[in-house]
Amino acid sequence: MKFPILTPEEAAEYVKNGDNVGLSGFTAAGTPKVIPVAIAERAKKLHEEGKAFKINVFTGASTNDSCDGALVRADAIDKRTPYQSHSDLRKSLNCHSTHYFDLHLSELAQKIRYGFYGDIDVAIIEVADIEDDGTVVLGTGVGNSPTFTKLAKKVLIELNEKLPKEMKGLHDIYLPQDPPVRSEIPIFKASDRVGSPVLKIDPSKIVGVVKTSRLDDIKPFTEPDEVTKHISANVCKFLIEELHRGIIPASFLPLQSGVGNVANAVLYGLADAKEIPPFEMYTEVIQDAVLDLMKQGRCKFGSTCSLTISEHMEEEFMNNLDFYKDKLCLRPAEISNNPEVVRRLGVITMNTALEADIFGNINSTHVTGTKMMNGIGGSGDFTRNAYISIFSCPSVTKGGKISNIVPMVSHVDHSEHSVDILITDQGIADLRGKDPIQRAEEIIKNCASPEYKGLLKDYLKLSESAGGQTPHRLEASLSFHTEFLDSGDMRNVNFSKYC
Ligand code: COA
Repeated sequence: MKFPILTPEEAAEYVKNGDNVGLSGFTAAGTPKVIPVAIAERAKKLHEEGKAFKINVFTGASTNDSCDGALVRADAIDKRTPYQSHSDLRKSLNCHSTHYFDLHLSELAQKIRYGFYGDIDVAIIEVADIEDDGTVVLGTGVGNSPTFTKLAKKVLIELNEKLPKEMKGLHDIYLPQDPPVRSEIPIFKASDRVGSPVLKIDPSKIVGVVKTSRLDDIKPFTEPDEVTKHISANVCKFLIEELHRGIIPASFLPLQSGVGNVANAVLYGLADAKEIPPFEMYTEVIQDAVLDLMKQGRCKFGSTCSLTISEHMEEEFMNNLDFYKDKLCLRPAEISNNPEVVRRLGVITMNTALEADIFGNINSTHVTGTKMMNGIGGSGDFTRNAYISIFSCPSVTKGGKISNIVPMVSHVDHSEHSVDILITDQGIADLRGKDPIQRAEEIIKNCASPEYKGLLKDYLKLSESAGGQTPHRLEASLSFHTEFLDSGDMRNVNFSKYC
């Protein structure tokens, strides 16, 4: 190989205080494993010497402990965007030690190209293979690597020797032109390939290669429990009914599924819902459940940005590449989540809410309206452009002390205009064609936990007395949340003081 082989410590020397750094991958999948750890160690040393060292970290989505975890513990991150899910980073950004700004995942690459955040100084990219002309085969997550490497002044490569070179052919690397000369993205089926199987990096920018041999270290998802199984059964019931009504064409439409335990459980439910024909996915993350669905012949094809699969599944995947290769396509985030393509393909989107209000607004990001959980991720990219947009969540959390159905969400990520269907373990609320009060009645009746139905009806009655198309009594609208903050249990709310 013509590029210098570096130690992680030597590579870290190329990153300077104040640099804008773009990291490969999307979720833990495809993120660098060793250079960010060496940068964090360097930051600690410099801090001990009284020197400033912080970088701005741009990613595809969340990363793993070797990126966000190591860097934030070393107090080495100034700005961070977009999605994150690391508990140490969450603590840091919620007390403003890290300046985090949340974005729709499809938008980061173009916003970087538009110059909104300054130059990209360094890109750190994990690859499965590299050639002397700078051509690389990416790993399990594409994220924003094409834009980072195109714009970066320097590129550091992590060549992961655990990743088989035969991964070549899984990826479809396509960068759209920017306005005013952007044309359509010519994807007309989830399985259409419109770009290149490899990423071409200007070799003069590649300052060195660090060899690694570690998989993505993704923990298995929580096994579906009674609540998530009920949610999943309700999602399948809804899809089957829509199929029978002819709302969803008999050949079915591509599915998108969000992240987390609820989303994973919903996908597992699709294995047994045999009335749904084998389907395709146009989504941003493929989790363990989808590979199982592929083995069962239930999922025919998956277009995604990453393979976020647990370690045993990753080994399985690598050992059976031939089986999976023609069933998967890994795209850059701005294509996997592209609003134009999502709307064209008629994607049925299934995302998870932290809480929903009785009028159908969704909070996916902020616990009690203030503390950032993870970020909006790609949920907005898909939801706003869906054929049918479904949100789901358990009806209660924390043993019933929190109702996930509330009078007014404490933060809005998806307004009621973007939400067609709300599903909890209790049932299905179809919000299409209903006015705000009809939506509220439907959600309370079908989605709220029995413990909270009475309280929510009390609130609706109280707010209706104030009039308006979307009736609210503003002084009482967040009383579920304030009660939780005061007494630790939303069930203690009492609306009589507002009457
Ligand atoms: N108030 C406070 N905490 C709440 C809550 C609420 N209304 N609802 C859920 N939580 C807590 C849970 O108790 C749990 O906490 P724990 O980790 O201490 O047990 C945590 O939030 C996660 O909840 P869980 O029910 O396990 O859901 P999940 O793993 O399916 O994640 C989201 C749910 C909303 C956090 C996750 O889907 C997400 O980050 N979504 C936004 C991005 C997105 O949708 N991306 C996909 C686009 S493709």
